[in-house]
Amino acid sequence: MNSSQSLRARPKPGLGAAAVGVEEETLVLDVLRRQELFRYYGFDPSRPPPMVATLEAETKAYLDVEYTLAVSSGTAALELALIAAGIGPGDEVIVPAWSWISCFTAVVRVGATPVLVEVDNTLCLDPTEVARATTPETRAVMVIHYQGIAADMEPICAEARKRGLVVIEDCAEAPGVFYRNRAVGAWGDIGIFSFQHNKPVTAGEGGLLATSNPRFYERAVRAHDLGQYRPVHVAVKPPTEPSFSGGQYRMSELTAAVALAQWRKLDGMRARCRALQSCVLPRLEKLTGIQLRRIPDPSGDFGYEIYFFANDAAAAARYREQLNARNVWCQQRTGTYPQYRREYVINGLAAHPVLSPFADFTTWPAKGYRAEDFPKTEDLTARFVALPIGWAYSVEDADYIAACVEAVHAEIQG
Ligand SMILES: Cc1ncc(COP(=O)(O)O)c(C=O)c1O
Repeated sequence: MNSSQSLRARPKPGLGAAAVGVEEETLVLDVLRRQELFRYYGFDPSRPPPMVATLEAETKAYLDVEYTLAVSSGTAALELALIAAGIGPGDEVIVPAWSWISCFTAVVRVGATPVLVEVDNTLCLDPTEVARATTPETRAVMVIHYQGIAADMEPICAEARKRGLVVIEDCAEAPGVFYRNRAVGAWGDIGIFSFQHNKPVTAGEGGLLATSNPRFYERAVRAHDLGQYRPVHVAVKPPTEPSFSGGQYRMSELTAAVALAQWRKLDGMRARCRALQSCVLPRLEKLTGIQLRRIPDPSGDFGYEIYFFANDAAAAARYREQLNARNVWCQQRTGTYPQYRREYVINGLAAHPVLSPFADFTTWPAKGYRAEDFPKTEDLTARFVALPIGWAYSVEDADYIAACVEAVHAEIQG
């Protein structure tokens, strides 16, 4: 029971947060000692402070894209991505029904209409849904790489390209994840990342936008900095776009210091999570009556959360209950929700009534925004059991998790 004791003593397994150490401390102290906290200027006008710029340079190289832009949050990055692509009132954006709040609300906040679609047994967007949901108004598909794995990008991108749709990848839960040897965030037209507390790379808050489209880059820069396009960006890409009224979504040097130290740990974190996961997965694969989540490219998986599907919702609830009783952290909802169950969908409101893209619907929630419209998503998300594999776990903990699932499985399946 030693492992049980150690699991009991352990808080929710953090990823980036649990790896914070001397590297973050060093970079933060560097910013403080230089007294240069703002990315665009410090004491020497000829030399802007380095931290945000270095984060952008290193993430750009890691992702193998032309441009990255550090911003204030993943949610901000999603809104900026939509603005960069020129998406607004009258446009439709395809969004998986099972996604984070920001995915839906970012579309509403730029005045466009989110069109919800089903997920499949990857718990990411079902590629066949792109054809079904596309209308003459559709401008973009938002893909969410859910909890450490890549969505099936080849068929998704093929379906989107056929229809001239912009592909926005939400990689908030998937930094350091690859699909066919290419980083997620580099597959679509724009990728976004989050550095919020629960993420593999965290600075408490923060975000990043990645693109290889020069126009999208310039528009995102302008949208995140009050329409401005400062010399740092001119040096990256000469301006060609007109200014427009933007918001203020900049990242500070302090946030960048933490995010940079964390990003540099990404490959080590992935290697560790994958090693721990490999102690559990082969044992779960042998259990009849449960199915593991499908991972479109297992070689690029981060490995920080194992999902399996039980036969029905009642069985999934029993697994969760009995695993939790054995001190195995085990959740039903892990940072993602069926959007059609959220309050802002049920009431259809935006910040001002005129801004709601749903104002013209005669009944609300209309078809396409109700639980009964998503039988596949309802079924899959009622039946899954999630087993986080944290940075702080040991091989013994991983063995213990596998043994507990085996024991609970034997009890449930008889
Ligand atoms: C899938 C997904 N998209 C977007 C976000 C938003 O990121 P942030 O919290 O940095 O705004 C999150 C997480 O919080 C997320 O999990």
